Amino acid sequence: MKKNEQVSTPVIKRLPRYHRYLEELKRQGVVRISSKELSARMGLTASQIRQDLNCFGGFGQQGYGYNIEQLYNEIGNILGLSSKFKAVLIGAGNLGHAVATHLRFEDRGFDLIGIFDNNPNVIGQQIGNKTVLDSDILEEFCKEHNPSVAILCIPSEFADTTAKKLVSLGIKGFWNFTQYDIATNYKGIAVENVHLGDSLMTLCYQINNIDNLDEESK
Ligand code: NAI
Repeated sequence: MKKNEQVSTPVIKRLPRYHRYLEELKRQGVVRISSKELSARMGLTASQIRQDLNCFGGFGQQGYGYNIEQLYNEIGNILGLSSKFKAVLIGAGNLGHAVATHLRFEDRGFDLIGIFDNNPNVIGQQIGNKTVLDSDILEEFCKEHNPSVAILCIPSEFADTTAKKLVSLGIKGFWNFTQYDIATNYKGIAVENVHLGDSLMTLCYQINNIDNLDEESK
């Protein structure tokens, strides 16, 4: 298998989608699938799928297709989903609540160990099995528990200073939901800036150009 560094970012970005589809197929009790069938479900071409999976040594067999369980496990290994990176969430407002309660962190390589806010009305609230902590104790908490990832759900104007502080406390990765794009050029820091609004604007473009899209797919 090639090392992950040699695999292009677009391929890496498609892996979670493969993983999600394979999880669903596994849940349905499907044992194997051809690249053609998988491509029909995912809206990718069969050759794209073969090309992507070949980057990791190709898990398919001629005439058999892919073993779902094996491919699911292999992709999970490549993504490192058993990692259990300790994560803290900063900003326990509307979005912070939703993120903390609706995502299966433990299935995706993370362990959410602390939720922080600076609003006295929010501190002490219960979110799932966690009590929202005062962000004043963040430094102490990081020294004791060494989280490596921060999830930012605070207003944009505090994103930059908060990110800098978190880097100084040992944070190595940001899942950033603020409108402010954390620079991805911090040395040794991984950043995923997430913007639902970008996806919505893409949908707007697609609806505005729906006739052209229909033409393209013919
Ligand atoms: P909210 O006002 O409900 O929650 C923000 C929380 O952050 C509040 O509880 C506040 O007390 C806390 N906070 C503010 N400054 C803080 C600091 N320095 N340290 C610790 N806690 C602090 O806001 P909402 O709706 O949850 O949005 C949060 C952020 O997420 C905003 O930046 C918003 O623009 C962004 N957002 C991003 C989306 C996306 O797709 N990326 C979608 C929706 C919101």
